[in-house]
Amino acid sequence: MKSSMKTRVTELLGIRYPIVQGGMQWVGRAELASAVSNAGGLGTLTGLTQPTPEALGREIERCNSMTDAPFAVNMTIFPTIKPPPYEAYIDAIIGSGVKIVETAGNKAIEFWPKMKAAGISIIHKCVAVRHGLTAERLGVDIVSIDGFECAGHPGEEDIPGLVLIPLAARALKVPVIASGGIADGRGMAAALALGAEGVNMGTRFQVTREAPVHDEIKQALVRANERDTRLIFRTLRNTARVLRNAISEEVVAIEQRGCQFDDIRHLVAGARGREALEKGDLNGGIISAGTVIGLIDDVPTCQELLQRMVKECREHLSRAQSCFG
Ligand SMILES: Cc1cc2nc3c(=O)[nH]c(=O)nc-3n(C[C@H](O)[C@H](O)[C@H](O)COP(=O)(O)O)c2cc1C
Repeated sequence: MKSSMKTRVTELLGIRYPIVQGGMQWVGRAELASAVSNAGGLGTLTGLTQPTPEALGREIERCNSMTDAPFAVNMTIFPTIKPPPYEAYIDAIIGSGVKIVETAGNKAIEFWPKMKAAGISIIHKCVAVRHGLTAERLGVDIVSIDGFECAGHPGEEDIPGLVLIPLAARALKVPVIASGGIADGRGMAAALALGAEGVNMGTRFQVTREAPVHDEIKQALVRANERDTRLIFRTLRNTARVLRNAISEEVVAIEQRGCQFDDIRHLVAGARGREALEKGDLNGGIISAGTVIGLIDDVPTCQELLQRMVKECREHLSRAQSCFG
């Protein structure tokens, strides 16, 4: 029996459960995105995982052939010295007919008008309530708020979800998706109780059967506990939360001595991280992961994961409700 849930997030996105798979560099490919969408959540392709806008167009076609359900594309847009052709990626998304985009990064703002004009629903992922308020004012449809627990970029203010989510829910009129530190129905129940209308997960989806990640890495994430992440790029004010391994330990040690990006560039190169994920080389490169690895102890299919989460979420909400007699 497949139940469904109803929040403004499910209504806006046309999905069965308010569970979103966030953009993940090298991981957000059609296999995973379509599996999440087929299971009733919102799967997301990661735009910049594809080497060119044309390749992204082909990946979207491939995902379309694997699911009839809606899916999104993530565009992570930061100012860089040699930026990828962001506009052409966005044109590829618009041309492909995808109707949901998850944006992240402080340059995303420049591309929202074009996306809105094309009828795209925008989920903007940010790490501060004030950024959510700006995004709301500029017309984004949903704000995804990432607490300090999260994999990837938690920002520099270190506010965990337990404070950030209710603050965002109180301040914003658009629906809020809680992100960071969620891996099960307990976390989902908590997020809903805090005022969110959906959850976004990265690390948990990285450890599913369909994630295009080598099994050695998935097993390492299963073995890891909540203390096994490191914050790199702290001293450069571009913090990223990643799995503790030989490379992240080395980066942190170099940073503690004081460094420029050039001193660690060879260690953190994206190509190295990609190879580590694909070849199962645990110490081969940087591997993004959140503190939620402490809660992950199996490798389910996306279908099993979503069904289990929804069931647990319902149980934990009714257990909490029963406190009132
Ligand atoms: C392997 C991996 C790669 C990620 N890459 C991106 C990315 O390219 N762009 C982005 O906006 N977020 C990225 N994220 C962050 C996720 O979308 C999500 O916000 C985050 O994982 C939520 O925290 P959680 O891991 O505790 O669930 C990545 C996360 C992981 C685990």
